[in-house]
Amino acid sequence: MSGTVTTRSRTLVVNRVLVSAHAVAIIGQPVFAGGYLGGDYDMLWLHKWGADAVSYLAYAQILAALVLWLVRGPRWLFWVSLLLAAGETAQYLAGMAGALDLHIPLGVALVTGVVLTTIGIWRVDR
Ligand code: HEM
Repeated sequence: MSGTVTTRSRTLVVNRVLVSAHAVAIIGQPVFAGGYLGGDYDMLWLHKWGADAVSYLAYAQILAALVLWLVRGPRWLFWVSLLLAAGETAQYLAGMAGALDLHIPLGVALVTGVVLTTIGIWRVDR
């Protein structure tokens, strides 16, 4: 019983670290995009690099959230992570296509979603 609790606590810590890193990475995206739109064209390279980092973190978060579910942690993180990863995949494709009418509002929604998820996972009791 206590072994299960310890495993869940550790898995929760891993999830908190991943979700927080995901938040830092996605908050950087509008910063780099703003630099690019302001005329610093190297920022597009950073935005592209950031997009890859955000995507890898999103997929890792799905796996970590699944493990958290399996050790009897909260289930909501798995479904939220799935939704965020789907939105971020659409965001990546919209960025590559230059579809800014979708890319900008979806970007704002995704940043909000990841920040709220970060607050949520830090509020879960260990
Ligand atoms: C509020 C957040 C974001 C804003 C304001 C934003 C804005 C932009 C802008 C202005 C461009 C340049 C488009 C062009 O010149 O045609 C761009 C490109 C791009 N964005 Fe974002 N973006 C955001 C978030 C994201 C996120 C979260 C991802 C990844 C999941 C992403 C992936 C990309 C990609 C792959 C490109 C194409 C880069 C290239 O052509 O080399 N963006 N974005």
